Amino acid sequence: MSVSHSPADAQRDRYAVVGNPVAHSKSPYIHAQFALQTGERIDYERLLSPLDGFVEHVQAFHAAGGRGLNVTVPFKLEAHALAHKLSPRAAAAGAVNTLRFDADGIFGDNTDGFGLVRDIEVNLGVSLAGARVLLLGAGGAARGVVLPMLERRPREITIVNRTAPKAHALVEQFEGAAREFGCRLFGGGPHAVDRNPYDVIVNATAGSLDAALPECDERAFGAGTLAYDMMYGAQPTVFMHHAQSLGARAADGLGMLVEQAAESFFVWRGVRPEGAPVLAALRAQLAAQAA
Ligand code: ATR
Repeated sequence: MSVSHSPADAQRDRYAVVGNPVAHSKSPYIHAQFALQTGERIDYERLLSPLDGFVEHVQAFHAAGGRGLNVTVPFKLEAHALAHKLSPRAAAAGAVNTLRFDADGIFGDNTDGFGLVRDIEVNLGVSLAGARVLLLGAGGAARGVVLPMLERRPREITIVNRTAPKAHALVEQFEGAAREFGCRLFGGGPHAVDRNPYDVIVNATAGSLDAALPECDERAFGAGTLAYDMMYGAQPTVFMHHAQSLGARAADGLGMLVEQAAESFFVWRGVRPEGAPVLAALRAQLAAQAA
């Protein structure tokens, strides 16, 4: 009698996060938790790529049977160029954080903006529909979140950047989508900030990395404002401290990290894991580090 293998015996599908540096990445932990939660049989590892060898590294992983990758700093633009097919949100972002190796080529997606929106709306309980939103920054991180935010139909989004022309360029890029979703879109330098509290302020500047605070009129922050920093760490960021001192509610980007991972998992496996319990576990780990 021949012995047939059940699907459970099949080899695990391989995924990884590729970056440089990548040792600090929490993605292997997050995806291992998602795999446990959903029963999906995957392995997820870290891949350190040389700065000048991204494409070769990705191809080698694919040739060795890899099914998909998360892409982090500094390779999101190269991943965008490498993909044969892009999701609309990755095309709008101009950057790719998720690759999936399909039979007909490499699919590139960007789940960062979806992760931000889901953290704000589901984990933090703040609806973007009808909201007045201030987006600080006009670099890659900001660009990646505009379309997913517009899809939630906020009343207005104001994009403010130290270098005003970059904010104007984003407004130009997204004005068609804004019209489609009934959202007013403004942009400019720091003077473009309204002197009335916003519902949501998102810090998408790279400022928190070096503890710099982006210039922003203090009257933009009020008791009903959610001030969201895309950065996170064991301690609240400078931006979060600032927002809290002005009476606003502050949140860091840990939930965005978890929710973008959940969406990548969905892109690969067609199964949507729960972000909240994994976020709670990571939060506890960070608190233990800070203690
Ligand atoms: P990322 O991919 O993280 O968005 P980026 O494309 O280099 O990186 O963009 C960095 C963003 O942070 C830009 O909006 C940048 O402002 P400029 O376009 O004026 O350079 C913003 N930024 C960085 N440091 C800042 C600071 N100290 N104050 C205000 N904005 C800052």
